[in-house]
Amino acid sequence: MSKYWSKAIRNIKPYTPGEQPKDMKYIKLNTNENPYPPSPKAMEAIAKAAGEAGENLRLYPDPTCEELRCAIADYYKLEKQQVFVGNGSDELLAFSFLAFFDSDSPVLFPDITYSFYRVYASLFRTDYREVPLNDDFSIPVEAFFETNGGIIIPNPNAPTGKFLPLRDIESILERNENSVVIIDEAYVDFGGESAVALIEKYPNLLIIQTFSKSRSLAGLRIGMALGNNDLIEGLDRVKNSINSYTLDRIALAAAVQAIKDEKHFEETIRKIINTRERVSKELVQIGFKVIDSRANFIFISHETMHARDIFKRLRDRGILVRYFNEARIDNYLRVSIGTDEEMDSFLKAIREIVI
Ligand SMILES: Cc1ncc(COP(=O)(O)O)c(C=O)c1O
Repeated sequence: MSKYWSKAIRNIKPYTPGEQPKDMKYIKLNTNENPYPPSPKAMEAIAKAAGEAGENLRLYPDPTCEELRCAIADYYKLEKQQVFVGNGSDELLAFSFLAFFDSDSPVLFPDITYSFYRVYASLFRTDYREVPLNDDFSIPVEAFFETNGGIIIPNPNAPTGKFLPLRDIESILERNENSVVIIDEAYVDFGGESAVALIEKYPNLLIIQTFSKSRSLAGLRIGMALGNNDLIEGLDRVKNSINSYTLDRIALAAAVQAIKDEKHFEETIRKIINTRERVSKELVQIGFKVIDSRANFIFISHETMHARDIFKRLRDRGILVRYFNEARIDNYLRVSIGTDEEMDSFLKAIREIVI
């Protein structure tokens, strides 16, 4: 603790990203990255974005991100005024706390979920309450009918991968017309169902998505928020009070092509879903409980060997997965879905470990 720190950061526990070790080459199944490359069209756009000899880089990028917002609006059949983009969905979540959450009632989110929500709530001194998930890790929908100052639900949830049907999202929206309800759809493309069609009906719905997972662009940091014009304007007010240029020229150019290249997107998703289903079946055969996942990762627990031991032994064999030493999930591992080859190495190692 330094005497120079503000009160806001003295007591927070910052988010810990999954490790990115450099000591040797690992099979990385710990940060839910996409194992396949981004659209070749996005790669061409990246090569061109700087201009010859980099002359375009002299100039600031478009602060309104017009072209990308129009491309996303076309994709989702929305108006561009219903689309906002930012530096990864993490930034959009942070902006949302500033834009929408300052009621006297607590913001609600699940107790087992993306841990950044808790960090933002602490940083921005927002009152919050964690809603305990049911024992099977499903979302207790009615608990979100209680008085609140906002709601965040990831769908599918992380790190469980569990999906909440849209009819449940809709009942949460109906019962919360005075609060902003954020549905974090970081993983929706891997078999979930987007709530985007509900935007017309519910002015309190904000959907947040990312290019980091299904579009293989985690390294460029691009997120999108979709919702009613008023919500988008709220986010824009925050952005233009912090940093008008949150997305650089390279990221903007790549994202436009990535969202347009539906063929590449669908092929990549299909491969990941097929691998997920195959690996899940094989894990069940060797004594794992595998939570039904609609994401690009699985959440698993072994009937006899503790997750912490499996985690360490996999790491010794050069395979990184994610272990959370937290209440209720400390006997689970979150395993990102890699290529078939990577997952075969994972399965081979895990068989040696548990059998
Ligand atoms: C549920 C959830 N939301 C948001 C994010 C942030 O994604 P990004 O900032 O890369 O868009 C993640 C990243 O892992 C996530 O798991």
